[in-house]
Amino acid sequence: MSRTAVMEERRANLSLRGLHKRYGSLHVLDGIHLDVGHQEIITVLGPSGCGKTTLLRIVNGLIPYDEGEVVFRSERVAAPRPEMAMVFQHFGLFPWKRLYQNIGYGLRIQGRPPEEIDRLVRRYIGLVGLDGFENHYPSELSGGMQQRAGLARALATQAAVLLLDEPFGAVDALTRELLQEELLRIIDVEPKSMIFITHSIDEALLVGDRVVVMSPRPGRIRFELETGFGRGREIEAIRASDRFQAMRHYLWEALRHPDSDPGPVPDGVSLRMEVKP
Ligand SMILES: Nc1ncnc2c1ncn2[C@@H]1O[C@H](COP(=O)(O)OP(=O)(O)OP(=O)(O)O)[C@@H](O)[C@H]1O
Ligand SMILES: [Mg+2]
Repeated sequence: MSRTAVMEERRANLSLRGLHKRYGSLHVLDGIHLDVGHQEIITVLGPSGCGKTTLLRIVNGLIPYDEGEVVFRSERVAAPRPEMAMVFQHFGLFPWKRLYQNIGYGLRIQGRPPEEIDRLVRRYIGLVGLDGFENHYPSELSGGMQQRAGLARALATQAAVLLLDEPFGAVDALTRELLQEELLRIIDVEPKSMIFITHSIDEALLVGDRVVVMSPRPGRIRFELETGFGRGREIEAIRASDRFQAMRHYLWEALRHPDSDPGPVPDGVSLRMEVKP
């Protein structure tokens, strides 16, 4: 690969620049700056109500913002784009559509030919372990299965960027770990850029290349940590590492004290403080 091509690969393909969002008099986002590199996974931690879902909806072009901009591959984002797919906090499945139709929804919107839709829908239903449930309605699936379905629907669109809003928030701890492993396995094969919102420190560290920590509302980015675990990561090996434990402790303390400086980072961990506009 040429030097230019390498630089092109590393270039941020999604940039949030000085985003502000207000709902009437409620100031929700207060100057968010974030660059998401090509195939980079960003996990976001922050207190409830700090504006995480709002942020994702803005990036996905679903709601307007007041100041700043969202730039994807040098173009300003103003409406939903086929290169981005969202996994919603509360699944967002259509209750009146069967699983098969739910997963194919984005592909039909994209106007793909029926054979291709069928191939992709079956592939992703299989990848998330829902074979045999094609004709079930969402109400006939467990919470974990609905989360898998939401993930499959986003993956099926072949989007280069996935926006995941607590995608595994509503399942038991064991299922959650299985889903984390499945997601990592899928994106080892089909790499993507991701913004992944979670309330779990462990999940943020296991899944993310970078963990971004937000302040209470109005949401700002307090700091970012590079996890440094690389691709092809093994969850159990990471969990057992000193680095994981040190970062976990650091994040735990930082989230417990949302209004104070998080203090010195553990040895070998790279920290970036808030980026001022
Ligand atoms: N459509 C809306 N109209 C008015 N206020 C809203 C709207 N959507 C969200 N808010 C408010 O904006 C703030 C941020 O909401 P948001 O859903 O982005 O938070 P969050 O960080 O995702 O929280 P959680 O972790 O609980 O999911 C909250 O105070 C919420 O009440
Ligand atoms: Mg939310």
